[in-house]
Amino acid sequence: MEENQVYQMPLIGDPAPAFEAVTTQGKIKFPEDYKGKWVILFSHPADFTPVCTTEFMTFASMADEFKALNTELIGLSVDSLYAHIAWLRKIQDIEWNGMKDIEVKFPLIEDIKMDVSNKYGMIQSQSNTQAVRAVFIIDPKAIVRTILYYPASTGRNFDEIKRIIIALQKADKDNVATPANWQPGQDTIVPTAGSCGTAKERMENQDENNYCLDWFLCFKKEK
Ligand code: BEZ
Repeated sequence: MEENQVYQMPLIGDPAPAFEAVTTQGKIKFPEDYKGKWVILFSHPADFTPVCTTEFMTFASMADEFKALNTELIGLSVDSLYAHIAWLRKIQDIEWNGMKDIEVKFPLIEDIKMDVSNKYGMIQSQSNTQAVRAVFIIDPKAIVRTILYYPASTGRNFDEIKRIIIALQKADKDNVATPANWQPGQDTIVPTAGSCGTAKERMENQDENNYCLDWFLCFKKEK
């Protein structure tokens, strides 16, 4: 990192910044190594801390669910590789919330120089020596699609992160949106703009597959 370098953190819709990093699974080159895959790049404040430990156990236990969604996980903190390895080993001995023998198989980036965390705006006012709890959901074209931040005292909701991935994949595939609290299998929203015609046409064109509650709120039946 150059001294006094000013970083512009990526926003939703921006290309995800490229980086090369050393991880617990060897070197990675992003985005080249992740072509065609969804990626969850997430940071945590520090190894050997309690909330982060429960997060890693939970995320690692869901790794196969994310794999099934063509989604790879990449963790990051500003700790050393040695700290990462020691912490992940220790995690295997912990039993919590029905989880035990948890092996973290996804890469955890060593970011002592804060190269990656600065590029992603993960170092914020809370601390200049620790990353915040950030989550970047990046699509197969390496575009940032979601950014989440959690406070240090609040562990993340990984079911919600999974739900966002499923909702984004559904939106991309079927050109739909998803309503509040949407769960897979539930009806989706037909976007107002685009192929659905005028408000009058939308109200008139309701059929067994589409229904409108008003001209601006039309749903597609999914069952
Ligand atoms: C934790 O993971 O428990 C934690 C990390 C940094 C600040 C506060 C809590």
